[in-house]
Amino acid sequence: MKLIKTFKFFLTKFFNYFFSSKKIIVSQEIQTTLPASVLMDNMSHYFFETGTADGDAVRLALQCGFEKIFTVEIDPVLYAKNILRYKKYIDEGRVFMFLGDTFELMPEIIANHIDKSCTFWLDAHQDFGPGGVKKCPLIEELEYIKSSPLEHKLLIDDRRMFGIWWGEGINEELIISKIKEVNPNYIISYADGHIADDIIVAKI
Ligand SMILES: C[S@@+](CC[C@H](N)C(=O)[O-])C[C@H]1O[C@@H](n2cnc3c(N)ncnc32)[C@H](O)[C@@H]1O
Repeated sequence: MKLIKTFKFFLTKFFNYFFSSKKIIVSQEIQTTLPASVLMDNMSHYFFETGTADGDAVRLALQCGFEKIFTVEIDPVLYAKNILRYKKYIDEGRVFMFLGDTFELMPEIIANHIDKSCTFWLDAHQDFGPGGVKKCPLIEELEYIKSSPLEHKLLIDDRRMFGIWWGEGINEELIISKIKEVNPNYIISYADGHIADDIIVAKI
């Protein structure tokens, strides 16, 4: 029995190291590939996340002091879990959770809720749960952000995955040109996430 448990423990560690994008442990409770220091360097009024997953970036955004936090998740199980986890903040009108595909929901959320500048954490992509119209709706998400007249900051995760697995069809040149369509004045830099320089940062 103990041997099986030990085997399971190491198997999980192995799996998480190579395949999970949630490697960075910010605190004992918060696990996200978004480092607190990167978020603190890129504050806005609001935080907008695509792909809520376990809700740990929401926790981080609350701790960083964003006025409002918007997050979209396609997996109903994760969504339901986070609705319970953040009930207090949802009731207070500080956290807004949406169930569905960013490909479909983002235009309406941006039009109806985003009346102040946002830090966008673009992190939705197919994992091991249900998938959306696109394996990774990043290009469309950038297109929707372009529709907002406000000046936002962009944090795009998983640069290492462009061109492979769910990132097939995405390449850096395309992403940078889309970012520049959102705002030609954006200055691009890179921040460490799951690996070094894995997060594209775009801001003015
Ligand atoms: C890497 S995880 C997100 C991690 C999270 N942002 C964090 O910082 O801890 C990717 C999430 O995106 C979700 N997802 C995948 N495709 C999606 C889509 N089209 N719309 C919304 N969520 C999606 C997955 O279900 C998964 O929970």
